[in-house]
Amino acid sequence: MHKVIVFGAVGLVLVASGSAFADGDAAAGKRKTAMCQGCHGIPGYRTAFPAVYSVPKLGGQHAGYIVKALQAYKSGERGHPTMRAIAAGLSDQDMADLAAYYAADDAKAAAK
Ligand code: HEC
Repeated sequence: MHKVIVFGAVGLVLVASGSAFADGDAAAGKRKTAMCQGCHGIPGYRTAFPAVYSVPKLGGQHAGYIVKALQAYKSGERGHPTMRAIAAGLSDQDMADLAAYYAADDAKAAAK
């Protein structure tokens, strides 16, 4: 047991998954998702416009994939303008934390 992640009001889910991703801090990542939620709806979260854009679902995605994708937006390897702007403002630690959070969200995604 390295770290016990306790979510307050919202946290029902992560405990069971045992969070396999040591590098990112899912609890910290959760606090950084405010700017993602409007577009990347989280299962169980009601976002205002779930169907306006075709936006990939992040919950349950592999952490490594999410970090890679964000780095690719930041570097310009991926061209989507909105995500480039967003990734440009993220540090490596931000990316790892966000990835850990979204990856650990798979229990929720499966339960949708
Ligand atoms: C304004 C809407 C918007 C916001 C805000 C936003 N995204 Fe995105 N995101 C998109 C869209 C649209 C795509 C698909 C882009 C493409 O086709 O390359 C995307 C793609 C991604 C991908 C790649 C997914 C895949 O399956 O390849 C990741 C990872 C991602 N976003 C993470 C985030 C994170 C983390 C945040 C918050 C820090 C965030 N996004 C905020 C709209 C948004």
